Amino acid sequence: MSEASEPSQIDEAAKGARLQSVAPFSEFMVGAAVRAGSGKIYTGCNIESASYGLTVCAERVAIWKGLSEGEREFTELAVVADTESLTPPCGTCRQIIWEFCKNASIKLINLHGQSEVLTIRDLLPRAFDARFLKKVKED
Ligand code: THU
Repeated sequence: MSEASEPSQIDEAAKGARLQSVAPFSEFMVGAAVRAGSGKIYTGCNIESASYGLTVCAERVAIWKGLSEGEREFTELAVVADTESLTPPCGTCRQIIWEFCKNASIKLINLHGQSEVLTIRDLLPRAFDARFLKKVKED
């Protein structure tokens, strides 16, 4: 974990997105931003449903926004939460990051200026993906 590195444009975008969080149930506000191959930044916040399981995390909202605008490559992902210990993506988001942001750097950030950069390979060893589906079809 590093202390107070210079905040970048994507860090600031993720911090701003966090303020849009719709989290009336958990009151846990999360912001995310992805930089696409085009250079554009797409932001997301967590959006909770009264049917709790339908809640969508900030990371996936940002990734869905980029994909829905035609982006297919992502180089950076930033995730911001107000926690002492940096908040990592949940298991569901790790799967989606593996499938759509495999080569992106993942920067976890808190509001005290601390951050850490990881890769999805660090967070999701031995991931399931489309390669396995192709194997089934070959049989
Ligand atoms: N959440 C995220 O948006 N991203 C994470 O990385 C962890 C969890 C959200 C989902 C839910 O709205 C709230 O945080 C509490 O789990």
